[in-house]
Amino acid sequence: MAALKLAVFASGRGSNFEAILRAIDEGRLDAEVRVLISNKSDAGALEIARRRGIPAFHLSAQQFPTPEAFDQSLLEILARHEVNFIALAGYLKKLSPTIVQAYRNRILNIHPALLPAFGGKGMYGHHVHQAVLDYGCKVTGVTVHIVTEEYDAGPPVIQRCVPVLDDDTVETLAARVLEVEHQVYAEALQYFAEGRVQVEGRRVRILPRPA
Ligand code: GRF
Repeated sequence: MAALKLAVFASGRGSNFEAILRAIDEGRLDAEVRVLISNKSDAGALEIARRRGIPAFHLSAQQFPTPEAFDQSLLEILARHEVNFIALAGYLKKLSPTIVQAYRNRILNIHPALLPAFGGKGMYGHHVHQAVLDYGCKVTGVTVHIVTEEYDAGPPVIQRCVPVLDDDTVETLAARVLEVEHQVYAEALQYFAEGRVQVEGRRVRILPRPA
């Protein structure tokens, strides 16, 4: 049985979700996607899940009378699908403390920059890459981090640099960063699948593979 029984949360096209599925198919990631959750009814990620027969839910807080009712429904879906790990892949909603506590140190997010630079509210999609170019950065990158109660502020698991080239546009830079996102998300998840992640405060240590 797969080590990680994943729920993937996505709001958009779902290319990171697809990259996770590819890594599983190719045997690079010991995981199984049990459920896909999206807050957007027209998310490409929902379509990808449905095509592959993965249970997929459109779930947004607006469908519920209170934030608590939304959380309860979310937790119920996660429990029903025996989820033991959550991967946020372009999920644009903040998870409530209730969800974060229920899956403490078992929720990852991927961000298309080197946090804490170019993170936080409003820093998503092309806004991130535009801000990197506006600042004149020479490098940017990807951060995979543990999700905490604060937005984009949990401890990094993997950070990888990506060069910014002189003639980059938002589109060319985003594409170069996205390619790296697709590699590192599966790598970070596999560390958890192998039980090699030790969290000490903000320092995340990746233990060597047993000999
Ligand atoms: C990615 O750039 C990811 O880093 C960010 O949102 C984007 C999602 O893209 N959190 P996709 O839906 O996975 O293609």
